[in-house]
Amino acid sequence: MIKPALELLEVTKSYGDSTAVERMSFALRPGEFFTLLGPSGCGKTTTLRLVAGLEEPEAGEILLNGVPIASPKLGIFLPPDKRRMGMVFQSYAIWPHMTVFENVAFPLRVRGEAAQSLRQKVSEALDLVGLSGFEQRGATELSGGQQQRVALARALVYTPTILLLDEPLSNLDAKLREQMRAELRALQRRLNLSVLYVTHDQSEAMTLSDRIAVVRQGKLEQIGSPVEIYERPATTFVGDFLGRTVVLEGTVRKSEQSIFVEFPGGDGRLSIGEEQRGSFAEGETVRVVSRPEDIQILPIGPAAPNQLKATVNEVAYLGDRLEYTVGACGRTLVLVAGKQERHAAGAEIRLAFDPARLTLLPLEK
Ligand SMILES: Nc1ncnc2c1ncn2[C@@H]1O[C@H](COP(=O)(O)OP(=O)(O)OP(=O)(O)O)[C@@H](O)[C@H]1O
Ligand SMILES: [Mg+2]
Repeated sequence: MIKPALELLEVTKSYGDSTAVERMSFALRPGEFFTLLGPSGCGKTTTLRLVAGLEEPEAGEILLNGVPIASPKLGIFLPPDKRRMGMVFQSYAIWPHMTVFENVAFPLRVRGEAAQSLRQKVSEALDLVGLSGFEQRGATELSGGQQQRVALARALVYTPTILLLDEPLSNLDAKLREQMRAELRALQRRLNLSVLYVTHDQSEAMTLSDRIAVVRQGKLEQIGSPVEIYERPATTFVGDFLGRTVVLEGTVRKSEQSIFVEFPGGDGRLSIGEEQRGSFAEGETVRVVSRPEDIQILPIGPAAPNQLKATVNEVAYLGDRLEYTVGACGRTLVLVAGKQERHAAGAEIRLAFDPARLTLLPLEK
């Protein structure tokens, strides 16, 4: 097994009597782009500050390449400047009163780097982010995207073992943000950097990350690849945070060969794929979670397996597609469909589900 570049084991941090981070555990593989994703106030920045050494955990352990750098139990706490981590902070990117050169040189000056190698390293870092020639510019004489790149160069300048990025693209407009996303990912791959990234933006997390850890109120909800957490959310919170979900509540029915879910007031039932059968009991009430794009809308017809009867309540025209609000099994669902076939408000329809794309969750999740 490869040794993790960074490992958190049951790390806890409170402010007063509120717990910002609770028993947080995850491991970052070398060269991995790993993202903490969650809503405002869920403890993302606090986790990053714990890793950087700007906060001390009150319990748990943080290991860098297998070596403890923070462990209250062992009485270990390595100060930030000994951790070789590059960090781009959430709130401000760079120091406005300094030139680009001085901004990037700063971490090296703090470490007492000799003048000649300092100049060379600054020049290399600026080259990496495409800002050669900007050395003498004042930091405020740059566009937002250029300022973000200076911040990135400053975090890269002493070849950090890990790069910590706290919503580094949040101050940019949508177009620049997408461009910087692509550049950041390319740079990370080229340098094989281990990155711990923080964002509350699900599409940013999905496009950038090798793996995502979804955080809710200081606790981990799920860790997985973008595909895993989108297609197999472990909780309804994860499902909703990553996009739209369609949730039905029903009763588990088991037979020898199969398992399916029945719905109150429904005329049909849905079979559940093999890998989802888990430990659900006959008669248990469960949630069946699906993505709107995985449900097909069909004109009314004779009952067929894995279909449910529904009624169109509303149709919204979104230009490239249609959005249907439908009633099925006593619930209101929002679905999307292409424009080829249209169903008017009030129409009876059938919804076709794909058993392989259904996730079964217990009620409490
Ligand atoms: N220095 C502090 N003193 C007291 N409480 C704090 C402090 N820093 C953070 N908190 C609290 O800890 C919780 C987690 O904060 P944190 O900054 O880690 O959230 P976040 O996930 O980064 O949110 P955002 O997306 O808004 O940046 C919040 O409830 C916050 O109010
Ligand atoms: Mg934050």
